[in-house]
Amino acid sequence: MQQNSLNQYDKLSKAFHWITAIAVAIAFVLGPGDFGRLLHDGIDPGARIDIVWHESLGITVFTLTLLRLVWVAVRPVAPRPQMTSWMRLLSQLVHLVLWFLLFALPITALLALGMEGHPLTLLGGFRINELPLLANSHLSGLADWGEVHKFLGDVIMWLAGIHALAAVYHHLKLKDGVLKSMWP
Ligand code: HEM
Ligand code: HEM
Repeated sequence: MQQNSLNQYDKLSKAFHWITAIAVAIAFVLGPGDFGRLLHDGIDPGARIDIVWHESLGITVFTLTLLRLVWVAVRPVAPRPQMTSWMRLLSQLVHLVLWFLLFALPITALLALGMEGHPLTLLGGFRINELPLLANSHLSGLADWGEVHKFLGDVIMWLAGIHALAAVYHHLKLKDGVLKSMWP
């Protein structure tokens, strides 16, 4: 496999990382507190630009994460700066949970839409009124997916915040090139 130069992530990995981080942050900000209530009150989500953007960014994150996973399998080897084994283990664990959340957020959202019979509304007037495959699936009755989705939305922001603080700590205190390796 091709070796990476300068202890840097390759350009595509960086692009995936930063576009995803920005899209998740904006989707989170656009997930207003009364989202669920609006939908339950029968407001057409297509008429709410914040909901349309929220769902479009979320679906973009989903698509990017699928493509990114393929890229991780074939890309040049990722940099491995020197660090203690417990620190490496912890950082790998955090990355793993972030990967999980990047998939779980859109999937729980789609399950919530299917379960509650709400349309998926995206930018450009794209709209799917019913998601019968999800609505009728065994999974759909297992939880209140809207609540699970909201909870995971909070979890990803907390974890990404801790992950970002750790990157800044590496940069300022340990000076081991971890932040520079992912810097655009
Ligand atoms: C990947 C990034 C995403 C993040 C960070 C995120 C975050 C959130 C948050 C924090 C809320 C709670 C808002 C509240 O307090 O009521 C929420 C609600 C919601 N989101 Fe997302 N979301 C994401 C992706 C998606 C996607 C892909 C869709 C649609 C396909 C979607 C549809 C919804 C819906 C329908 C609700 C209301 C849920 C309910 O209360 O029943 N989200 N989201
Ligand atoms: C929602 C926001 C974010 C998510 C979901 C996220 C997710 C991830 C994931 C999954 C990786 C592993 C990447 C790979 O193997 O290609 C990673 C690496 C990294 N991220 Fe983030 N990230 C976010 C925000 C940030 C921020 C704000 C910073 C810096 C201030 C940052 C700094 C880094 C660094 C330096 C690495 C490389 C770490 C290493 O190789 O040990 N991330 N991030």
